Amino acid sequence: MADALKLGFGPIAAPNRAVLVAFCDDGLKFGPLTGRALGSAAGLVARAAKSERFTGKSGSALELVLPEGLKVARLVVIGAGKPAELKAKDFVMLGGAAMGKLPASAAEATVFAELPGGAMRPEQAADLAQGVVLRAYAFDRYKTKRKEEEKPPASRKITVCVSDVAAVRSAYRAREAVADGVLMARDLVNEPANVLYPEEFARRAASLRKVGVAVEVLDVPKLKKLGMRALLGVGQGSAHESRVVVMRWNGGRKGEAPVAFIGKGVCFDTGGISIKPAASMEDMKGDMAGAACVTGLMHALAARKAKVNAVGLIGLVENMPDGKAQRPGDIVKSMSGQTIEIINTDAEGRLVLGDVLWYAVQRFKPKFMVDLATLTGAIIVALGHEYAGMFANNDQLATRLTEAGEETGELVWRMPLGKEYDKLIDSKFADMKNTGGRMGGAITAAQFLKRFVDDKMPWAHLDIAGTGFDSRQNDINKSWGSGWGVRLLDQLVADYYEK
Ligand code: BES
Ligand code: MN
Ligand code: ZN
Repeated sequence: MADALKLGFGPIAAPNRAVLVAFCDDGLKFGPLTGRALGSAAGLVARAAKSERFTGKSGSALELVLPEGLKVARLVVIGAGKPAELKAKDFVMLGGAAMGKLPASAAEATVFAELPGGAMRPEQAADLAQGVVLRAYAFDRYKTKRKEEEKPPASRKITVCVSDVAAVRSAYRAREAVADGVLMARDLVNEPANVLYPEEFARRAASLRKVGVAVEVLDVPKLKKLGMRALLGVGQGSAHESRVVVMRWNGGRKGEAPVAFIGKGVCFDTGGISIKPAASMEDMKGDMAGAACVTGLMHALAARKAKVNAVGLIGLVENMPDGKAQRPGDIVKSMSGQTIEIINTDAEGRLVLGDVLWYAVQRFKPKFMVDLATLTGAIIVALGHEYAGMFANNDQLATRLTEAGEETGELVWRMPLGKEYDKLIDSKFADMKNTGGRMGGAITAAQFLKRFVDDKMPWAHLDIAGTGFDSRQNDINKSWGSGWGVRLLDQLVADYYEK
């Protein structure tokens, strides 16, 4: 089992825990209370820094074992660089760096949330605490055999020491809600597809009822009645039934139009009849990272009681080859009435999203919508794993997403849409085809989605194939699933729709 993290806050006092974490700037200076607590050990730090060439650069670390004059077994000094330049996301990263320096065996640690200029402000200390929690996450529920020295303690107690404990506790409440949303999304992405198939995903989404989210699960008869034949076609080769889940949080003004988030939830993508090669196919258990993000985000918004009306919609299917599976050449009628010729059954995400986007517009008339999808390998070729691709029909929404990305470190890069690309998805037999060839693959996918969205409705599509899992391992995540997008979209809501 994962080691339970017990995070607490307390005043800055003489440390007696196993590990002490302290911050210094790039002049190796400590805050006043930290300096006092270190006492004569401060001299040791200066000598060790010299020999280890530790300069206090942001995120770097220096470790001292059994420092003379201190009761702790280990002192970890984390560089904060130039503290005046630190932004919210940097405090989150510092918290992650601090957590990352705790030895696996350490059951207790104290973190001094102080900089040379004095105690961190409550929001800064709360951001730091969020980083600790994000970094402490591990998905190890299926590990039953571990060597003695690799076994983590049954629980870890981390105390973040601050100047105004009450103010930090209160600032931390919302950040804890968001962190829980990120961890929920990571769990969903990390789960294997034999455990997390559409019905099971829907059950986990339904657990959001306990934080006050209204959850509706649409089953196959209901989806047939709605006419979601594009989505159902993707799932028809699977032994597991498809589902669509609608999650609503009404924390805003009564009757005000909601903001809508839509997620691709392909619980496993074999490619279908256009089957994928074997190499790395196991990664396709993460092809529901968009839906995981939407679910984690709805948790975050509800748990922090965001003053917004928000709706999350996720399309849950499994793309399998089978006697009943959809074939290349098949033509399906989407809920919108538009017909689609299936050229490649591996371009399934757009089929799922087309129906869910259309449904979201018709039913909720949202203020704006953002969809997230591990949609194309092409976006990874274009942007690598650092930025998600953003496509938008509205400049203001695009700007706001870009800004929220810079604030949180979950970066988005705008890509073009344009009617020039439309001809690539025109079909000989139907209204459109589901692939546009190799060139501009992420763009033609987005252009396909655009056909299911009202032109006047502000809409952004985030292609998270490169950011939803795997290579986003950094100071605040060492697990495979990243939970990418929860912090970004929570920030978007906080910045622009709650003020
Ligand atoms: N789920 C994949 C895209 C993907 C690839 C996500 C790698 C994450 C990592 C998607 O369904 C897919 O297979 N897309 C095809 C589209 C093509 C057939 C037009 C692709 O990108 O190759
Ligand atoms: Mn696919
Ligand atoms: Zn897919």
